[in-house]
Amino acid sequence: MKRKVTKAIFPVAGLGTRFLPATKSIPKEILTLVDRPLIQYAIDEARAAGIEEFIFVTSRGKGALEDYFDHSPVLEAELAAKGKQKLLDVLDTTNMDSGAIAYIRQHKALGLGHAVWCARKLIGDEPFAVILPDDVIAAEKPCLAQMVEAYQETGGCMVAAMEVPRDKVSSYGVLNIEAQFGNLYPVRGMVEKPKAGTEPSNLAVIGRYILTPDVLENLSQTEKGAGGEIQLTDAIAQEIVAGRPVNGLRFDGQRYDCGSKAGYLQATIAFALARDELRDELRDFMHELVAMDKAAQ
Ligand code: UTP
Repeated sequence: MKRKVTKAIFPVAGLGTRFLPATKSIPKEILTLVDRPLIQYAIDEARAAGIEEFIFVTSRGKGALEDYFDHSPVLEAELAAKGKQKLLDVLDTTNMDSGAIAYIRQHKALGLGHAVWCARKLIGDEPFAVILPDDVIAAEKPCLAQMVEAYQETGGCMVAAMEVPRDKVSSYGVLNIEAQFGNLYPVRGMVEKPKAGTEPSNLAVIGRYILTPDVLENLSQTEKGAGGEIQLTDAIAQEIVAGRPVNGLRFDGQRYDCGSKAGYLQATIAFALARDELRDELRDFMHELVAMDKAAQ
């Protein structure tokens, strides 16, 4: 039996430049899909996978994110006085236990690997998950829960993997795979943002990881990689060189890249269409819009 994964790191210290000017004052992770901020989807997924400690790697300007997880006694009292039990229940799903959340600062945006490394003292000597909140995954069984289940068999490091079109692959960390067992791929190499035509496969790493403390040790020695940033991919790849197992799990589910405008808008539509109270109105509106768009061409 492998050790339980009870801690997760949420790196949220990036600048979010693709969402400027909004991200001048709003952290990207507070942008909403319908009515829940991106970060709430990430927290819900972590909880469903058995995570008990939530470690946020933040930076200047992320105050709204910290406030979001505070209880809101004035609002709660107001809703209670007005008998708005349904809204109180909604708020209740967002409340976190005291002491369950920790915030640590990344003082310079030196890359994802560096952000994860900033949380090393809070992780100590146990396996941990990393969740990038801007990758939102709609799935019957949440993606991290699928990974934890597979990890119980494999141990080592595990990354979420997804097939992407060849012309998009150079935006991702890409797996060089050794074999395939169902949806599990033992990995023999990983490369961050390979040059077009040099990619070892079309299996890309997306923002869910289960990692061993050895990766934190590797990060201490990792030099800057692609884009001049300290890359998490490089530190995981070092595990393979050291002869320790790294597996890719091709998860079941639909991933939305909410760090990009197109992905975020697609997710907004998909999540709204999944809501009973919004579906009909939105569907009618979309039909009208498409018809108008066609007529205008
Ligand atoms: P992105 O590559 O999406 O960068 O980071 P970004 O800064 O958030 O957004 P853009 O590209 O400027 O629009 C992927 C994840 O890694 C975190 C980000 O917060 C995001 O969750 N990250 C990235 C850090 O925490 N620190 C960094 O130095 C870089």
